[in-house]
Amino acid sequence: SSTAFADAKSKVVILATGGTIAGAGATAANSATYQAAKVPVDKLIAGVPELADVADVRGEQVFQIASESFTNEQLMTLGKRVSALAKQDDVDGIVITHGTDTLEETAFFLNLVVHTDKPIVVVGAMRPGTALSADGMLNLYDAVAVAAAKDARSKGVLVTMNDEIQSGRDVTKAINIRTEAFKSPWGALGMVVEGKSYWFRAPVKRHTTSSEFDIDKIEKLAPVEVAYGYGNMSEAAYRAFDKAGVKAVIHAGTGNGSVAKHIVPVLQELRGKGVQVIRSARVTSGGFVLRNAEQPDDKYDWVVSHDLNPQKARILAAVALTRTQDSKELQRIFWEY
Ligand code: DGL
Repeated sequence: SSTAFADAKSKVVILATGGTIAGAGATAANSATYQAAKVPVDKLIAGVPELADVADVRGEQVFQIASESFTNEQLMTLGKRVSALAKQDDVDGIVITHGTDTLEETAFFLNLVVHTDKPIVVVGAMRPGTALSADGMLNLYDAVAVAAAKDARSKGVLVTMNDEIQSGRDVTKAINIRTEAFKSPWGALGMVVEGKSYWFRAPVKRHTTSSEFDIDKIEKLAPVEVAYGYGNMSEAAYRAFDKAGVKAVIHAGTGNGSVAKHIVPVLQELRGKGVQVIRSARVTSGGFVLRNAEQPDDKYDWVVSHDLNPQKARILAAVALTRTQDSKELQRIFWEY
């Protein structure tokens, strides 16, 4: 019979961490007012019986939190669980259900430190499952379909939202309270339509098996903080970060990562104490911070974040500083990942 020849379904593990995809609102009209991180993973899976058509699925509840509350320690716990599962022969792909607020940070982190070619797909929802036109069920179906697909292998960590397949490195939550919230400045990698993935591009930056960083060899991420640049900015944030003992600061500068004249001295002082200074930009919809353009980075021994937005630059710096304190090595890492 045909079932005898149906190739065995891919085995996909769903790691649930919370967020709106596990959210519940008081009424179907509540698409933006609801409680995140309520529904357990087995109920999420039961809510989409069609998952069984695309993969052999099982779930684990790693956390049950709103993603704005993720800590470095929780990132490490999740990363080590993903790494352990990826090594198992009875796991072909991994899906992580996650709040959308910091989904892009977790996706980039896993892209940097998990050594596997198997698909890892991070997925969330902009509306709770209780809302009219909820997006979580289809997003989850798409994530499992991609995690089960052989052609999703070796593409780095992926994000499926709103029918699109995005690179975990590039994607960011660009819009609030709309289902088309996730954008990549360089474009999506592909689409999922009716459970089938269609690819149009592949990542060129280093990731997963080509990364020099390995979650299994990392104990603790380095403390890195971000400050926003704007007119009349004071140096108070950088003074406070210095007192807190940061290893790097990310300057989310105006324009091409500009630094106000009266802020340069405090950044030079931090650099002098061994704190890495990384110029990113509050302008995040495309382009990239050019070294030695707005500031003499060579002279000040500063680093530029390239095209990475401030929150992604923090993730890369937190990982890179577990392996090097050399600013030239750090700049190489920001060019390559
Ligand atoms: N509290 C936000 C979070 O957990 C809700 C946003 C969402 O998951 O869509 O990221």
